[in-house]
Amino acid sequence: MKKLLVILVLGLLAGSVNAADFSGTWRIELPRRGGVMLRTYFVLQQNGATLDGKVVINDGVDLPLRRVELKDNEAAFSVDWGTHYRLRFAGDQLDVTISYDEKNHEEAVARRAPEADSRPPAVIALPALATVPANGLALTPPMGWNSWNHFGDKIDDQIVRDAADAMVSSGMAAAGYQYVNMDDCWEGSRDAQGNIVPNTKFPDMKALADYVHARGLKLGIYSSPGPRTCGGYLGSYGHEEQDAKTYAAWGIDYLKYDWCSAGRVYPDAQLQAGYQKMGVALQRSGRPIVYSLCEYGMGDVWKWGPQVGGNLWRTTGDIQDNWKSMAEIGFNQGRLAAYAAPGHWNDPDMLEIGNGGMTATEYRTHFSLWCLLAAPLMAGNDLRQMSPETLAILTNREVIALDQDVLGKQAERILGRAGLEVWVKPLQDGGRAIGVFNRTEAEQAANFTWAEFGLSGQPKAVRDLWTHLDLEPAALGFSGQVPAHGVLLLRIK
Ligand code: GLA
Repeated sequence: MKKLLVILVLGLLAGSVNAADFSGTWRIELPRRGGVMLRTYFVLQQNGATLDGKVVINDGVDLPLRRVELKDNEAAFSVDWGTHYRLRFAGDQLDVTISYDEKNHEEAVARRAPEADSRPPAVIALPALATVPANGLALTPPMGWNSWNHFGDKIDDQIVRDAADAMVSSGMAAAGYQYVNMDDCWEGSRDAQGNIVPNTKFPDMKALADYVHARGLKLGIYSSPGPRTCGGYLGSYGHEEQDAKTYAAWGIDYLKYDWCSAGRVYPDAQLQAGYQKMGVALQRSGRPIVYSLCEYGMGDVWKWGPQVGGNLWRTTGDIQDNWKSMAEIGFNQGRLAAYAAPGHWNDPDMLEIGNGGMTATEYRTHFSLWCLLAAPLMAGNDLRQMSPETLAILTNREVIALDQDVLGKQAERILGRAGLEVWVKPLQDGGRAIGVFNRTEAEQAANFTWAEFGLSGQPKAVRDLWTHLDLEPAALGFSGQVPAHGVLLLRIK
């Protein structure tokens, strides 16, 4: 009888422990287009009715979990940018629901995995700092298109070909756009020799480059100094030289190199060395390749970007297709003006014009500001279906001419008054571009003396670059009206 009781109690204990023992490492595999499998790990420690540990999202970023409460054998939590996880204990597996937003959910089964699998690869020492010679490219800010803002992970070979065709047929190429850039989500696997192989959405990268080149355009690609990209695809970690050679062999003309999971293997103090490694590899590849650094402005990249061979560097986190995001990024760039020059540019992120989240007035402000900032002009919309208004903004040659001015100066804000901001960009011909921006929700009258525009007296000529009209310069100063969230963009001689 006693013996039976002991067995029963032990059995119950074991049962209750087994009922919800989340402790350990669990792996989910998430299939993606192009035959790619992304892996996320839950490294968990159960302490009574709470969980601690971390989630290693897409093998690329460690995000900590602290005191997540367990209820009815379930744990629910958010760890990053709004992604929500629900884990249900089911014996030898966890049933996982991932919610990306209200509409997008994904189900997966987590199975136990060795803890070592969740760890980043061994650290490969980086070279000592040295100056990479300038590659002579991007003497004016690069212009083109990038897939990310509109297509995200939905890009494929056909979309890139279509973008190239549309760039020519729409007149964008004639207005100066040249680079057709694939962002993340083209990567597949590595072959037995370690060569990067695109996923099945990109059957023949060389043929794609030939197609783009045949239209007089150039092709760009994307990778990371880390083992994984921000989307969880393969990065160039440990394969930098090899990847640079592969890109050159395919005919790639531009690389966006995105820090992402490099933070798992290198301390922030090694940002510069990490970027230098690929800068050297690109120059050894034997092909001129524009080098675009993407690390969101960490470590004051503008101070060392040129030394690693960079032609442009992101200065901020990701832009979103709304007024708040665009204005917060764009109007905060003046402090970096001194770092822009022919061959290397501050990059406040790609354009959102035509993606639908702002009004035409706001998109004209976005374009005017980016051109005054001498920013790279990477259209981020679907070039196959642009409204005439979107096309007119993107191809306003008088505005593009400010961006592409060979003096290569970036505008600075010289005056802020009652919701209006005056930004001035010096031009090669001795003239200036002046933007009067209205950041308020109501139309504003703009009345400024010429001195307030930074001029010594009455100018010879004033041209409005959105109405394409020459204005009669008044003796004392300038007066006009600026719509809410709008801009008056002037070229002054
Ligand atoms: C980061 C970059 C974006 C884009 C994505 C792709 O968020 O900042 O511009 O390249 O990665 O995953």
